[in-house]
Amino acid sequence: MPVTVVIGSQWGDEGKGKIVDLLSEDLDIVARYQGGANAGHTICWDDKEFVLHLVPSGIFHDNTTCVIGNGVVIDPAAVIEEIKTIEELGYSVEGRLHISHNAHLIMPYHKAVEQARERLRDADAIGTTGRGIGPAYMDKFARTGIRMVDLLDRDTLRKKLKQAIEEKNTLLKSVYGADELDVDAIVEEYVEFDKMVDPYVTDTTQYLNRALADGKHVLAEGAQGSLLDVDFGTYPYVTSSHPTVGGCCTGLGVPPTAVNRVIGIVKAYSTRVGNGPFPTELNDDAGERLRKVGHEFGATTGRPRRCGWLDLVALRYTTQVNGFTELAVTKLDVLTGMDEIKVCTRYRYNGKETGRFPSETQTLERVEPIYESLPGWSENLQEASTFEELPANAQSYLEYLQQKLNVRISLISMGPKRSQTIAVPPQVAA
Ligand code: GDP
Ligand code: IMO
Ligand code: MG
Repeated sequence: MPVTVVIGSQWGDEGKGKIVDLLSEDLDIVARYQGGANAGHTICWDDKEFVLHLVPSGIFHDNTTCVIGNGVVIDPAAVIEEIKTIEELGYSVEGRLHISHNAHLIMPYHKAVEQARERLRDADAIGTTGRGIGPAYMDKFARTGIRMVDLLDRDTLRKKLKQAIEEKNTLLKSVYGADELDVDAIVEEYVEFDKMVDPYVTDTTQYLNRALADGKHVLAEGAQGSLLDVDFGTYPYVTSSHPTVGGCCTGLGVPPTAVNRVIGIVKAYSTRVGNGPFPTELNDDAGERLRKVGHEFGATTGRPRRCGWLDLVALRYTTQVNGFTELAVTKLDVLTGMDEIKVCTRYRYNGKETGRFPSETQTLERVEPIYESLPGWSENLQEASTFEELPANAQSYLEYLQQKLNVRISLISMGPKRSQTIAVPPQVAA
């Protein structure tokens, strides 16, 4: 059976958690392929709400197995805590969660270095989530990282950790003028993790490829969003991994030929947390309204999200890079009650119009969005259970997006709960 990849098409927080949870009902395996606890994926069912940071969003379906792939950077303390909370909710994780032996660890010194570096950058800070993501990936690519498998061997871990902390202490003290970390305290804390993680650590690449050969259906869950991709995003205001489609292959060890569905999650407007260019940002009442009605506050850090109109220049670019075969449009309900909905179709730069998304920050900061205006609707979307039952102007908005991006919309989300979703059969979509 093939792999379905679910990817954020904007700057993250598009509602990936909700959509992955919903799709997991009919799937065998859900696998996270990149990022770490910088992600905050919210899942709402019955009267419950849960934010997952590392465990894949299929964990609340008993028949689904979850995998944290080699491409993810794992804070062991955070994953252990998350597992504990999930079990306290009454969901057994035993035998249903596998963590790659090759996944790299986030250590306290990664967070300390990140904090020091962000402080030093001052006004140019990236505005990271403070979870140590960048420094952990730096160590991975510098070939000085510590991996899950190292947690299972106390002697090796002691040696590697001591060496790493001593090196980072020199950096913290001499370069950043920050406090040094307590080597012995960290070593003693981390050697205790062996028994806790042992039941989960395995060769997930073998596991996933065998499962695919056995006809199992795998969903690869992206974290962050395409515009935060270290290569394709708004560098340097990006994360340090590949949320875009290629990240699924390198972050899980599955071949590209196994992927047959790429679902782009599109929030019906745009948001961004942290710094960096955002051409359609609204610093007015309309932006404030989107933040308020959409509860646009970070699921990981609680920071207010910057809000703005939908940006088709950016979406055409992320559709191209990822090859979306379907779109899931989320948070359509948040637009209800707006008289007019604007959509950016092109940019103006140096007096000239362009349809190209200039991911280079200097240009993107200076583009002026050119908008088309669509009529809004005031009817409550919750009454609708099919596409045809949506208000006429909501249907027109979706048809407009579909036509402009030339990709079919297969799911429409109109609320945080599983039930607040419309599945659109292929024949309805134009
Ligand atoms: P993710 O990081 O992509 O999983 O998204 P987050 O969980 O960070 O943020 C999405 C937020 O919107 C969460 O609070 C969800 O519960 C909520 N949400 C998801 N879909 C919808 C929707 O269609 N309508 C509304 N109103 N909220 C939604
Ligand atoms: P989910 O999976 C939104 C942003 C941060 C910052 C930049 C770099 O919930 O969509 P990092 O800590 O990764 O080094 O921060 O990326 N960022 C996110 N924004 N949603 C996320 O994840 C994010 N993960 C990181 O705000 O601008
Ligand atoms: Mg999120």
